Amino acid sequence: MLTLTDIAVATEAIGDRADLAALFGRAAPTELEIGCGKGGFLLRQARAHPERNYLGIEWANKFHRFAADRMARWGLTNVRLLRTDARHFVIHRLPVGCLAALHVYHPDPWPKKRHHKRRLFNAAFVDAAARALAQGGRLAVQTDHAGYFEVIVNLASAHPMLAPAPFVDDEFGTANERTETNYEIKYEREGRPIFRAAWRRR
Ligand SMILES: C[S@@+](CC[C@H](N)C(=O)[O-])C[C@H]1O[C@@H](n2cnc3c(N)ncnc32)[C@H](O)[C@@H]1O
Repeated sequence: MLTLTDIAVATEAIGDRADLAALFGRAAPTELEIGCGKGGFLLRQARAHPERNYLGIEWANKFHRFAADRMARWGLTNVRLLRTDARHFVIHRLPVGCLAALHVYHPDPWPKKRHHKRRLFNAAFVDAAARALAQGGRLAVQTDHAGYFEVIVNLASAHPMLAPAPFVDDEFGTANERTETNYEIKYEREGRPIFRAAWRRR
């Protein structure tokens, strides 16, 4: 059984280039969720696929601790959580071709124009994300913000390494077009439209 500190790994402990096999103590297909919040999606997927590794990155300490505690209580051994800036991590610390999937559900939209530079998705991030995926690896995105969705779709669709893929995919936890993250549940209750898209690395 893993303790809280085994799951909530200190970012400094993983070195300049993340060695995912060392991080999880085994080599296995690894999926990353950025902004995993309270960890509901990751928890469900990690339970459904014990043969895969699940890495969650969450900046907010409160959610990071909450999610780690949740994973420990479920006795999961295939989840690790980092509290760090995911954009920096993906661009500078993830090795090429190391991910089976990258999930980003409801990234902060930063709706004011002067704050757009704070958004996770920009050209450098999409390029690093495409390179971090293994061949056939999946990038899946969901947001309630139409303008940000258009930006993301334009960036990913223009990337030569990414090809459009169906969002609905039981294997990756998006059956029935739903991810059932906290924000999805909240926004659907409010009747907001939700935009979804996925790509595969060519
Ligand atoms: C709108 S919430 C969505 C949470 C969850 N994915 C969901 O759908 O319920 C966005 C989350 O992303 C986290 N976040 C935003 N930017 C981040 C970054 N650069 N690195 C890591 N986490 C980030 C925030 O702290 C927040 O918990």
